[in-house]
Amino acid sequence: MENPLKIGILGLGTVGSGVVKSLEGNDLVSIKKVAVRNINKKRSVNLPVDVLTEDSFSVVNDKDIDVVVELIGGTDPAYELVKTAIENKKHVVSANKELIATYGKELFELAKKNNVIILYEAAVAGGIPIIMPIKTSLCGNKVTKVAGILNGTTNYILTKMTDEGADFAETLKQAQELGYAEADPTADVEGFDAAYKISILASIVFNQRIDVKKVYREGISKITSTDIQYADELGYKIKLIAKAELLDGGSVDIRVHPMLVSKKQMISRIDDVLNAVMVEGFPVGQVIFSGPGAGEFPTASSVIGDILCLAQEMEAGDKNPLAMMQCKHETAADILDIKNSHNKYYINLTAENVPGVIGKLGEICGKNNINFVSILQKGILENDTARVIILTSMALEADIQKAVEEMTNSSIIKDITNVIRVMD
Ligand code: HSE
Repeated sequence: MENPLKIGILGLGTVGSGVVKSLEGNDLVSIKKVAVRNINKKRSVNLPVDVLTEDSFSVVNDKDIDVVVELIGGTDPAYELVKTAIENKKHVVSANKELIATYGKELFELAKKNNVIILYEAAVAGGIPIIMPIKTSLCGNKVTKVAGILNGTTNYILTKMTDEGADFAETLKQAQELGYAEADPTADVEGFDAAYKISILASIVFNQRIDVKKVYREGISKITSTDIQYADELGYKIKLIAKAELLDGGSVDIRVHPMLVSKKQMISRIDDVLNAVMVEGFPVGQVIFSGPGAGEFPTASSVIGDILCLAQEMEAGDKNPLAMMQCKHETAADILDIKNSHNKYYINLTAENVPGVIGKLGEICGKNNINFVSILQKGILENDTARVIILTSMALEADIQKAVEEMTNSSIIKDITNVIRVMD
């Protein structure tokens, strides 16, 4: 092409390399500069040596570059770099969920002021097209709910724990050895990654800003193989679910936590590193997107999709390219306190092997407006205790917290192993 789109890339890690390889031979785009930490590192991509630089600011300040592609992750120095790129009137493509979830407000306002666009399809659910479909094909819907499995690492760990009956720590170690989990797995296993992603999705579908710090978050590190086994017997799988719902009063119920998901739900069959996103609204009803949520080429697919959309719009001479992808909201969401949410619950506890345990549990739950759906005890454990599994019908979280506290304080209840919310 005569006038290819000139891009500068920040970061040449897994995703950056995938982007460079996937753009090879594409004449709509020309890679002008790529910022890397160490110019001498051996790499799997073919790039002319003068394209590489260790000076990231030389990329965002390069007058010749039309689009900055930010693939470094984290917020420092990504925020300053993206901000500078926008101030220099460059469009931005980013795969950085932490940056968008944390600094979206500032960056979108700055982008509007400078008449440029920020595209970030790769920031949520890797290779699954979700942001552009929501902002374009589904734009006529009143969306009331978005939920899904947004973290591949935790889904892989939970799938392995289910298939092999293994414990969390052992499975995490295996996942790290295989490269599916980071050396520091906190962001994934404690739900931070999924919280960034659901905040981004919720802000788009509900047209409101979400303060990611207010999103309730629990990870999977406390899930035991016993929980998985009992869930299975009761007809459920355990998944790390990220969900956001627009409630009747206008507040947003948004959270990330493990859930027992009924095996009847399609989402329960999304296994291994796959992700899935369910969007519910009117008039469409319910749609589910699923696919690879991470990885070199799936994530590159979303990044190059954004780049090529920009290339074609700019080639067509559009001065305000992809206007539908702009951020169009400014109000902050009123986020529901988890204590005021309603859920069904699974409670896994051990009690003394003495008469009156089930009666005591019934008394505590009854007093706190909690109705049992089922209560299960299978014999006596080797250490002369009994494991009791309770499934409740819909209850207020504050009531559950109170009941669990009373159970903990009761002399015949030894341990509350886990309390997990349930999706039927
Ligand atoms: N670490 C993420 C995951 C992929 O495991 O899904 C990048 O967002």
